[in-house]
Amino acid sequence: MKKLYFGSNLKMYKNRKETVLYLQELAELTKDISREELHLFIIPSYTSLEGAAEETDRSLIQIGAQNMCWEDQGQFTGEISPLMLKEMNLDLVMIGHSERRHVFRETDVEENKKVQAALKHGFRTLLCIGETAEEKEYGISREVLRKQLIVGFHNVSPAYAKNIWVAYEPVWSIGVNGTPASPDYAEEMHKVIKECLYELFGESGNEIPVLYGGSVNPGNANELITKESVDGLFVGRAAWNAKKFNALIRDVRKSYNNQE
Ligand code: PGA
Repeated sequence: MKKLYFGSNLKMYKNRKETVLYLQELAELTKDISREELHLFIIPSYTSLEGAAEETDRSLIQIGAQNMCWEDQGQFTGEISPLMLKEMNLDLVMIGHSERRHVFRETDVEENKKVQAALKHGFRTLLCIGETAEEKEYGISREVLRKQLIVGFHNVSPAYAKNIWVAYEPVWSIGVNGTPASPDYAEEMHKVIKECLYELFGESGNEIPVLYGGSVNPGNANELITKESVDGLFVGRAAWNAKKFNALIRDVRKSYNNQE
């Protein structure tokens, strides 16, 4: 069975104690699933990161940061440097989550600086991209995704492709008010993304996993994973209870196996 990617961003939820308990429960519940077939990662809040990184069996669950400054140090009040994250021995850094772009007004150029810094420091880098409802309405989703990828990976050499993951999360699909993308629509956009990654990185672009995120839930996860260009699921609310996330992972793996 091909390796499937499952991850969750805990956003600004769960304190340090809750995060560690959640991670330990999730590790215990999923430990029988071969990590040859499952790549599981969780992205907690900054204040929970150290506890999460130290107290989780990292061969079972990888731990990532939700954001990162592009500079190593300096006059950047409120920011976190790649060197500070390296001290915690993290596995990955997420860049450009929809809430960073739309609530905190981060631009593609800034995401590119962060991507370059994260890769330079040896982090696996998860770049999140996605169009807004308005952009979809105007029929420019493809153009928007291509722009986010082309600018986001500007000046990134194909040698780094092995450390890159992409999450497609349409802005209109995220959070309590989101509408999940239909599996067919997700597949269409994932194809656009994969083509663009090939243009940018050549053959190594084909190795970059592309995950779908945005209101993934037990009702749509199984069909999403059967789509050819969907390599994994990036889950929010439906993953924040370890038992429910474990059940979702198992169901999705079953659906994937049944269609193979
Ligand atoms: P959601 O969050 O699954 O709760 O919509 C997805 C995300 O923001 O990554």
